[in-house]
Amino acid sequence: MRARIILIIGGGIAAYKSLELIRLLRKRDIAVECVLTESATHFVTPLSVQGLSGAPVHTALLSLAEDSQMDHIALSRSADLLVVCPATANLVARMANGFADDLATTLLLATDTPVLVAPAMNVRMWQHPATQENLRLLRTRGCLFVGPDEGEMACGEFGPGRLSEPEAIASAIEDALFPHKPLSGRHVLVTAGPTHEPIDPVRFIANHSSGKQGYAIAAACAQLGAQVTLVSGPTSLPCPAGVTRVDVTTAVEMLAACKAALPSDCAICAAAVGDWRVAETAAQKRKKEGGAPPELTLVENPDILATLSQPGTLRPSLVIGFAAETETLEAHAVAKKRRKGCDWMLANDVSTGTNVFGGDQNRVLFLDGDTVEPWSAMAKTDIARSLAARIAARFSSSPR
Ligand code: CTP
Repeated sequence: MRARIILIIGGGIAAYKSLELIRLLRKRDIAVECVLTESATHFVTPLSVQGLSGAPVHTALLSLAEDSQMDHIALSRSADLLVVCPATANLVARMANGFADDLATTLLLATDTPVLVAPAMNVRMWQHPATQENLRLLRTRGCLFVGPDEGEMACGEFGPGRLSEPEAIASAIEDALFPHKPLSGRHVLVTAGPTHEPIDPVRFIANHSSGKQGYAIAAACAQLGAQVTLVSGPTSLPCPAGVTRVDVTTAVEMLAACKAALPSDCAICAAAVGDWRVAETAAQKRKKEGGAPPELTLVENPDILATLSQPGTLRPSLVIGFAAETETLEAHAVAKKRRKGCDWMLANDVSTGTNVFGGDQNRVLFLDGDTVEPWSAMAKTDIARSLAARIAARFSSSPR
């Protein structure tokens, strides 16, 4: 299941930074639903928040008018975390004193979901004993905090009270959502995306891979604390947070980048590597010139998964491959796993109509030893999370 937070945006000048925060959270595959206090609507518009979060936005006034406050309370209870950002001095005071005079404070009072607070206020307000006492109260009740930072503030004063940078808040949210980092200290190598095998300077041989599955796996392993190197063929996807991406174009480059990234504890080959490359790439664009179409001589590309699976001191202790098949999925996958020498294999049916290439859903058979386990159809991000959890379980008993 995807992690989901409720972001309560308070009414301060720093509210604009919450827009960037929403963008960063979605990049980390965290679902965000927002509540704006009435004063927050003077700083950011519900429309921008809705556009960025891709979810309905709740404001105190609208919610009361719609008489749907009860639904929102249910919403806050089903979230994994409530985040208050920016938390103004006023909002902190109302939280500390148990007010429930608008939707935001009602939600905060009516739930026992963990709360993370990102304060932002004028330095004197921050230092005031009333605020410090309110913060102490909230801390003793288990509220988590990120920031504030020290620096120049919108009001021109200098000192503590500035909202933390959105990156830092996003990381604090991730830490709160995923406090256990079972893969910390592990290096995971992931290949993803297609390869482009050039014919000449303007043409290439490629395939339909979008890279989504491999990128989701890289993100899921990073969320569990792994140091992740993502060797990626050409895709239009953003690099997941906390992941080191190495961009490559061809299969030969992908193999070289993987070898350079070793040693690693685990390698996951999710890339759709081109099986063949053109023997001699033309230095200039091939012209038609009225003659017969050119004949392309193809040579086989190196097999990255098979290379990484070869016994040796640099072999990752867990090597995982994918099998993309269009028929007799299980039989082909079993044979492929044996041929490549990897430890686990995830087999998926990529035949026309399954929409696996480019789509967000996938259905896999999971092969470990002689066991074949069918996983139900799910989002690629959920497959990634399940796989990362399995990897963590596998490593839990072996020393780092
Ligand atoms: N793979 C690889 N290097 C290659 C070809 C494939 O690392 N040159 C990896 C893929 O990343 C995947 C696995 O091998 O993890 C299986 O890829 P797949 O395309 O299903 O199989 P192929 O090896 O290409 O075999 P075939 O074309 O016969 O199905």
